[in-house]
Amino acid sequence: INYQTATFITSAPNIRKLPEDSGIEIAFAGRSNAGKSSALNTLTRQRNLARTSKTPGRTQLINVFETATGQRLIDLPGYGFAKVPMEVKEQWQRSLSEYLEKRKSLKGLVVLMDIRHPFRETDQELIYWAVDCDIPVLALLTKADKLKQGARKSTLLKARQAAIAFNGDVQVEVFSSLKKFGIDQLEQKLDQWFLG
Ligand code: GTP
Ligand code: MG
Repeated sequence: INYQTATFITSAPNIRKLPEDSGIEIAFAGRSNAGKSSALNTLTRQRNLARTSKTPGRTQLINVFETATGQRLIDLPGYGFAKVPMEVKEQWQRSLSEYLEKRKSLKGLVVLMDIRHPFRETDQELIYWAVDCDIPVLALLTKADKLKQGARKSTLLKARQAAIAFNGDVQVEVFSSLKKFGIDQLEQKLDQWFLG
C-alpha cells in the first residue's frame, strides 16, 4: 500500500460525524505527546498531514486520513494529559472510548508509547481492552532516538517480555520519527491488517 498517497478526509468531534463505518480502518492511539501525529506524518512521508505540537493535547478530534486506494488511518486524541480543563478532557475522552467500543471497521490498533516510559496504566488498559475485543495491537516504542542503541535493544526485549502478559496479538517494535526507525515494521503490519 502506498501510504504516501494519504490525504486528510475530516476531523470529527464524535463517531457520528465519521465516514461510514465500512471497510477497514486502523487507529493510532496513545498518551498525549507520545508521537502519534508525528508517526502518521513519518509513515505518509508528509511533513504536515497530521498536526504535531510540543504541547501535549494538540489532537483533540478524531482525524481521518485515507490513501488513494481507500485505506483509512485515524489519528486519535491522546489520553492522560492533565493540563486541559476538565470539561474539555471529559468530552474527548468520551469520544475516544466511544470510538474504540463502537467502531466496527476498526481492525487494528497502533499504540504509541514513549520508549522512556512504556506500558503506563492507561496504555495497559487500552491494550487489555483491544485484546478483549480481538483487535490486534502494534505497540510502538516511540522517540527511540532518545536512547543509545544498547538501551534501546534492552528496552525492546523487556517490553516484548512484558507484552506476553496481555495474552493476545500484541507485537512490540521501536520507532523514531526523527531517525526513521521502525517504518518498515509499521508498514508491514498495516499492509497485513489492510490486505489480510
Ligand atoms: P497529542 O496530539 O497531543 O496527543 O500528541 P501526539 O501523540 O500526536 O504527539 P506529536 O506527534 O504531536 O509529538 C509530540 C512531540 O514529540 C513533538 O514535539 C514532536 O516533535 C516530538 N516527537 C515526536 N516523535 C518524535 C521522535 O521520534 N523523536 C523525538 N526526539 N521527538 C519526537
Ligand atoms: Mg497528535
